[in-house]
This record gives sequence, structure tokens and C-alpha cells, in this order.
Amino acid sequence: MSNTPDRVPLKARKVSFSWDDTPLHWVPGDPFSTHTINVLHLLLPAGERWFVHVYKQVLPYIRDEQLREDVLGFIGQEAMHSQAHDEVLPHLREQGLDPTPYTAQVDWFFEKLLGDRTLPPGRARRWWLMERVALIAAIEHYTAFLGDWVLNAEELDRRGADPTMLDLLRWHGAEEVEHRSVAFDLFMHVDGSYRRRVRTWAAAFTALVFLWQRGARFFMENDPTLIDGRATFKDFYVRGRHGTLPATGEMLKSIPRYLSRAYHPSHEGSTEQAVAYLASSPAALAAETAEKSAKGAA
Ligand SMILES: [Fe+2]
Ligand SMILES: [Fe+2]
Repeated sequence: MSNTPDRVPLKARKVSFSWDDTPLHWVPGDPFSTHTINVLHLLLPAGERWFVHVYKQVLPYIRDEQLREDVLGFIGQEAMHSQAHDEVLPHLREQGLDPTPYTAQVDWFFEKLLGDRTLPPGRARRWWLMERVALIAAIEHYTAFLGDWVLNAEELDRRGADPTMLDLLRWHGAEEVEHRSVAFDLFMHVDGSYRRRVRTWAAAFTALVFLWQRGARFFMENDPTLIDGRATFKDFYVRGRHGTLPATGEMLKSIPRYLSRAYHPSHEGSTEQAVAYLASSPAALAAETAEKSAKGAA
């Protein structure tokens, strides 16, 4: 259940960011790292909206009050993440990168392929709901992995990465670490089949790799400042070694961890570090101040 020792009550922080001063290549001199991370702004708005859509349907199946509370907190956080990444897209368009052709494909993927199918009530409908709950647990293994990575990606600071973009990524990453057990606990509560866990991991991993490399290629090819911009696996591997992107070896090592029968997300990342970041994040602090003054005015 969700009674992991470092459980924290989950709350959505109503952050907002101003992108006026963020340059196109916000990791200075490194369009490939910039655009590989930028893919998050394309995948997450549709992906996290889909999480919320699926979880609203699973609420009636939850028989544990604490888990229900966690799932509601999770829904609030993911809705905010989706919105915050969506708000980066107009800024990308202003800089000559219109992601519409790519986001149209991502929307189709989440809304049609993974959307509600016209299934009769009963077993078939429940099967498809459980399949999606398991898919979300697998994806959340990676959002927690990436959240932990970005909280510790000091190389981005050393390279002078844009502080606003880093705060967006770290606020989001910290909340991913903070709520990393919810999706898995929910899956174990409503289903927990090991075969389903393996099957949906394979589907989620394949889809993430496919969508991510397509997104990175899309940005590199459409970046108006690059002549013959490309995205290759070698570029990814090298950046991973330098620390401006996650290391390939670390990503591979995370696979057997998720597939282990002893897996629990609480063994990944550090809640303490996530909470400490959220206590110092400029966007999270501004959201807290705004919330307090709104309460005071009420
Ligand atoms: Fe998220
Ligand atoms: Fe998440």
C-alpha cells in the first residue's frame, strides 16, 4: 500500500514561468541536449492529461482511503505538470519551432490509441482500464528516473543552462520523485499481475523510445538555426557520458529493477532531496506566496 516510510501528502503547486529570457538553445551551445529535453514539452501535456483521464475512471475501484488521497494528489500534480509544459509551446513557436505536426501525432497516440474504446461494460472494459493503469505505473518508473536525474544533473548548471527551464524541470522532477510510489501502489492495489507488469513495461518502454527519438529528430531537423540538424543514438550516448542527458548505462540498469518482483518505487530516488528542492524552487516558492496572499485576501 501507500504507507511507504517517506510518504508525503501530495499537493499541486500552482506554478507559472516566464519564458521571455529563455534562449532557443537553453543548454548553451548544445542544441542536441536542449532539444532532447525539449521533447518533454511535447509528450507530457498529452501524456499527463491522459494519466488524469484514466485515473478518474479508476477511483471507484480504490478500497483504501490513504491510497485514494494519494491518487487525488497525484491527479492534481499531473494536471499542473501538463499545463506548465504546454505553456512552453508558444515560446518555441515564437523561436521558429512549431511543434504542431509532432504534437498532433502525440495527441492521436494518447487520445485515440490509448483512449477509451467502445467496449461493453464488464470484463473487456475493466481489462482495458487495468492495462492502462499498469502502463502508467511503467511510465512513472521513468518519470521518477528522469526526475531523480534532473535533480542531480549538476553538469547542466556548470554549462550555464537557463535557470527558468532548470526550475521547471526540477520542480516537475521533484514532484515526480515525491509521488513516485502512487502509480505502482495503485496498480498493485487494483490488479498487480506480474505478467501484466512485464507486458505493459515492454509497451511503455518501446513507445517512449520511439516517441522520444522522433521528437528529438523533429526538433533538430526543424531548428531554424541549424543546417542539416540530426539526432543520432551516438549523440545521445555521448551527452549521457558528459552528464547533460541521462547516461545510457543508467537507463539500461533501471530496466531489471522495474521487472524485479521485489521492486518498489520507494527504493528509487530520494524524497528528502525532492522535498528540499521544492522548498527552494523559485516557482514553487512564488506559488506558495501567491496562495497565501489569496487566502489572506479571502
Ligand atoms: Fe508529471
Ligand atoms: Fe508523475
